Amino acid sequence: MIKAVRGTRDLLPPETALWNFVEAAVRDVFGAYNFHEIRTPIFEETQLFARAVGEETDVVSKEMYTWEDLGGTLSNKLGEFFDLVDQNRESPGPDARKLWSEYVNLGKWKGQSLTLRPENTAGVVRAYIEHKLWDRGLNKLYYIGPQFRRERPQKGRYRQFYQIGAEMLGPPTSGSESPARDAEILELLATLLDRLGIENWTLQLNSIGCANDRAKYNEALRKALEPVAARMDPDCQRRAVTNPLRVFDCKVPEDQPIIEKLPRISQYLDEPCRKHFEQVQEILKAVGVPFTINDRLVRGLDYYTRTAFEFTHGALGAQNAILGGGRYDGLSESLGGPSAPGIGFAIGEDRLILALKQSAESVQPKPDVYIAPLGAGMDREAARLARELRRHDLITELGDENFRLKKSFEIASKISARFILIVGENEVKAGAFALKNLESGEQVSVPRAELAQKIQSGR
Ligand code: HAM
Repeated sequence: MIKAVRGTRDLLPPETALWNFVEAAVRDVFGAYNFHEIRTPIFEETQLFARAVGEETDVVSKEMYTWEDLGGTLSNKLGEFFDLVDQNRESPGPDARKLWSEYVNLGKWKGQSLTLRPENTAGVVRAYIEHKLWDRGLNKLYYIGPQFRRERPQKGRYRQFYQIGAEMLGPPTSGSESPARDAEILELLATLLDRLGIENWTLQLNSIGCANDRAKYNEALRKALEPVAARMDPDCQRRAVTNPLRVFDCKVPEDQPIIEKLPRISQYLDEPCRKHFEQVQEILKAVGVPFTINDRLVRGLDYYTRTAFEFTHGALGAQNAILGGGRYDGLSESLGGPSAPGIGFAIGEDRLILALKQSAESVQPKPDVYIAPLGAGMDREAARLARELRRHDLITELGDENFRLKKSFEIASKISARFILIVGENEVKAGAFALKNLESGEQVSVPRAELAQKIQSGR
């Protein structure tokens, strides 16, 4: 038997109703904050993630689904070749000849390296640059969709998982750098979690510095790591030299006492950076969003600057980060774009659903009516009635004239329909149908024209 690949899973009804319920609530909240949806491709050039997220991060160095995409390149080359031939049918000329010889020597071609997106911020910033979105001032964008990381699967951790994320970015003149934007994002998140009925979340907040203080901090980290790095796991040793901040992501238990003693970024923030962070906190206090400062929080992706945060939730066990995010003021430049400070977050939708108290059954709508055609020729009549009722937005389940009445009743009760509507020859002739309320047991004969209203009124 072929099964779903390890770390991926099928979402089935009624659980999908819970996902839709969450996504509808989230879209409402995003709407109230004037965010608009962006959909970027599920795969991108590998270079995008290497440059944005960082070569030394776990995500890029260990977890990406990457492949050489030869097919795309071949068909592109062929397309180019035929365009050239079309342009000059008589004599293709040297350019076409060159392309043709490349085509003939297919084996020599190197494919394009592509990667399934492990996160969506890089794709959004790429789109911002590609479509010159700075013309729109401050962009407030959100996305909902699958991401892919080759992690060890466990509860709340999958290889295909879903993120609900948002990014707010624009040229500095659009106010994109303001601490007011950081606070707005964090307040939005508090509102969202509250709206979904998620209680007991904790907002962990840190500032991981601007470009200047990061350089100083990296130096201090390197110095502190020099005498101890040799005792650490090989991965951490390498990071201590190439990208010391990433040492904080080392998970090996024996290394933790060393990591514990390393200098904290909070001691290295320069004045503007410290001020920015203070202002974020002041607004959060003013709007009543509780937070805890965690100066060990550095986040696992390289693009972050200044404000970094995670919301955790006790019910989730080891994978307790329900969402994470932060500022990425230099990301656009590092991808070849203009200055576009920004801040965003991504909620792990799978984890959000795990933390929800709401049961899937409670949000899955129940059928309003089950139509039971009774006897030969009645499927036709039942189909006409179903069409009328569905036009009134009534959730209508359609039976089969070959089912006995007993079986129809059993199905209607199994799917928790509120009413059963019996469609027999006599009913069709009379133009009135037996409608039984399956909750109260009451049965009445209802003229065709009044059916929809009668079923609706019982809602
Ligand atoms: P991240 O912290 O890597 O940040 O992921 C955000 C959230 O996605 C995590 O807090 C977690 O809830 C969920 N998540 C991550 N990996 C998995 C997994 N394997 N299985 C289930 N859930 C997972 C980012 O991705 C950034 N792009 C967030 C961001 C947006 N920062 C700025 N803008």
